[in-house]
Parts: sequence; structure tokens; C-alpha cells
Amino acid sequence: MPETPQTMGQQHHRRSWAEPWKIKMVEPLEVLTREEREQAAKEAGYNTFLLKSDKVYIDLLTDSGTSAMSDRQWAGMMLGDEAYAGSRNFYNLEAAMQKHYGYKHLVPTHQGRGAEHLISQALIKKGDYIPGNMYFTTTRLHQELAGGTFVDVIIDEAHDPANEHPFKGNVDLEKMQALVDRVGAENIPYVSLGGTVNMAGGQPVSMANVKELRAFCNKYNIRLYLDATRMVENCFFIQEREAGYAHKSVAEILLEFCGYTDGAWMSSKKDHLVNIGGWLAVNHEDVFEQARNMVVIYEGLHTYGGMAGRDMEALAIGIAESVMDDHVASRIGQVRYLGELLSCWGVPIVQPVGGHAIFLDAKKFYPHLKQDMFPAQTLAAEIYLDSGVRTMERGIASAGRDPETGEHRYPALELTRVTIPRRVYTQAHMDVVAESIKAVYDNRDKAQGLKMVYEPKYLRFFQARFDWL
Ligand code: F0G
Repeated sequence: MPETPQTMGQQHHRRSWAEPWKIKMVEPLEVLTREEREQAAKEAGYNTFLLKSDKVYIDLLTDSGTSAMSDRQWAGMMLGDEAYAGSRNFYNLEAAMQKHYGYKHLVPTHQGRGAEHLISQALIKKGDYIPGNMYFTTTRLHQELAGGTFVDVIIDEAHDPANEHPFKGNVDLEKMQALVDRVGAENIPYVSLGGTVNMAGGQPVSMANVKELRAFCNKYNIRLYLDATRMVENCFFIQEREAGYAHKSVAEILLEFCGYTDGAWMSSKKDHLVNIGGWLAVNHEDVFEQARNMVVIYEGLHTYGGMAGRDMEALAIGIAESVMDDHVASRIGQVRYLGELLSCWGVPIVQPVGGHAIFLDAKKFYPHLKQDMFPAQTLAAEIYLDSGVRTMERGIASAGRDPETGEHRYPALELTRVTIPRRVYTQAHMDVVAESIKAVYDNRDKAQGLKMVYEPKYLRFFQARFDWL
């Protein structure tokens, strides 16, 4: 076996990070046989979203809603005030958001896409353009359903898996200027800024970039809204990489960053260490009024928005836990451990390693498979067959079809995401995962590719079915 980050040189000077918690409750895992996995994969149409979780060993499909809550959060669940209106847990949640994100108003939603729906419907009119630093599947679809067209304004480096730019999530201000010149600022209701950028590999946006973007938006009277889903992780990278931030806490950096934006939508299922929940937070009164009125139609009353009182309490506590420096450092440390192991073994992954996942470069894995043979989907299926580890496709299937032409979109990035839930798996699990991916890499020449045999209309990657070519 080749060297690992653990066995590499300087044994005597090592100072490792470790998780700032210990384990109080465990959930048994089962490993199926290869034959059982073959059967399960076939029944799931070779789509990891369609696998029963009983058939999965280590589940790295997503970091969304899959994290482990702390004993404090579980204690908070017992303090649920399940009043239909005015639950005390709502006010605790509002206070936690205001303290750590600094926005004025909170509209709770059942998860991130509920908030995306509200903001898109409130601000976008037919024919508008919404620039953003790379699309996210549900975010873009809500913008399109509201009548808008998403325009990617991320820097070019983000589309190159090997490029080592420290802030690959940054917005290219020249692309912003070109869009304003082309369509007019009056047709751009807001910029949709994500930190970190999920589809680019969990890549961060720098503080300098958001400052510049704020100045640009002020000049043209365009609003700036943040997808804050993994913003805590983004702040860790600012602390680590940006001059002047090494001695600031993640919490301080988060408040400063949000201060340059007009509001945010949030999938609390990620950073906030809960299994369900989300919100929209805004500063402008007009947007607040609209969103607060609309939430009653689609989610629930404006003091629960689809969450139980106990969910809001766990979420309020999770927000405070999520910004602790030692928590974020160990969370990203674990992702990095897996990334370094794979890099050491020559497995092609997106560099630098981002916040929430390792992204395998399926184009490099399978140069013999054309993109419409679904290389990233193939890779996710092969990893599952090898070990029962569940990953997901982030390539041509996720990108969907162009609404104008009906053709496949062909994204530059054809990736398989190996996503790490927070506080759930151990370093030994990461070893098992890395060894399985390495085994699949060693057999890469044999992969034959997939064809799509069923395709739903919206967000096809969730429910599409495939078969071997
Ligand atoms: N924005 C980003 C950047 C996301 O990653 C997600 C969800 C959402 C918005 C939507 O939030 O799921 O709570 O409705 N991402 C999940 C994932 C599904 O696996 O990356 P949601």
C-alpha cells in the first residue's frame, strides 16, 4: 500500500487535528455482498439517488440533512414549543440568525429550496437575467420558473479541475460588466452569490471579491443576495488563505461577509448541523413583506415555515455550534484527509480540495467515455458496486437540458461528488472510501458507460434511470 498522509515523514513533529467531540450513540452499518450490490444497483437504474439506504454501506451521497446533532441540539428538541403561531423557538432562531449572519428579518422555510422559491418569485420578472457564480440545480430552476435566465459569471479558473486558484468561487467582474452592457442593469434584479460553490467543488469566494462585487452592485443599483448554505466553510478558507484574516474567527468573518450582501437564503441541512430546515433572511422591508406573505401559501405560517418548533430549536443551537473554529477546522480537516490520500495515489480530483466533498474528475478517470455516456454517473455506479459507498453524479445528468433548445447541457466539469456528512464518519471510514476509489481507478479501462433509459422533466438527476451501454 502506498504512503498515506499519516505515514508520510516527520513522524516526531506531527501535530494532528482531532474532532472536538466524542461519540455517545452509534448506528450499526451493514456490508452487502457484491452480488447483492449488483442486484440493488440494477433495481435503482444505476442512479445512486434511487438506492434504498439499507443497501448502502458508507453514505457519501450528500452532506445535506445527514449530519449528526450534538447532545445540546437533542436536548433542544425537548424544548419544542409547538404553538401554531409565535413559537418561542422561532424567536430563538431569529436571534441566532441575527447574531451570526447580521440580517434584519427572518422568514423560515422547510429547507433551502423553499427559500429559493420565495426570493425568486419576489424579485424576478419575466425576461430578467440573474448572474451567479456557477449554477446550482434547484437555485437555477427556481430562477427559470420565475421567468429569469441564469448567467454564469464565475471566474474561468472554476471550470478547470486542476487549477489551484485559492478562491475559485470568485465572480469575474468583467463578466458582470459585459452582462450589464448587454442586457441593462434594470433587467438584473439581483446577483445570486454562493459561498462555497457546490458545483465547482466546494470552492470559496474571497472577502476582496465580495467587496468589489458590492461596489459594482451599488454603482448599478443591483441587489446582492447570498446562498449562505456552506458559508461557514467559505469563511474557514478566508481565515486560512486571505491576508488580514488569520487572526479573525470564523464567526467574525461570517458577519463581515454577510454585511456586504442584502440578504441570504439558507439550506440549514448543511452548515447548521440539522436534518431539516432552512430560511430566507433579508434587510429590505419590501422583500421581507413579500416573502413573509408568500411563505404562508407555500410553507406554513411565518413563525414556523414548515418546521416543527423542536426543529427550529435544534437549528438555533446548530447555528451557534457551526461557527466554532475548532468545529469547522476538523470538518474541513476530514475532507482534506480523504483528498490528500487520493491525491497521493494519483487519483484525479478537483484541486484545491473544497469544503464539503471530494470531487472526482470523471473525464480524467474515463477519457474513453464521451460525455453523453455519463462518465460521472458511471463512476458513482462503479464505486457503489466495488464497496457499497454511495456518491453522486455532478456532471451532464445534473446539468439537465437547455430550456430553449432541449439539448443536453455539456458542463466543463464532469464530476462525481464524494460528500462528507458532518460529525458522522471516522478517519477509518475515509480510508475504506479512499481504497475503494483507488480500486475503481485501477480498473478504469474496463468501464463501459451508461445510457439514460428514463428521464423526468425537472431536475432529472434525482430520478433518471440508466442501463449499461
Ligand atoms: N444551495 C446550495 C448551494 C445547495 O447545495 C443546496 C442543496 C440548496 C441550495 C438547496 O437546499 O436541499 O435544503 O432545498 N444541496 C443538496 C446537495 C441537495 O446535496 O448538495 P435544500
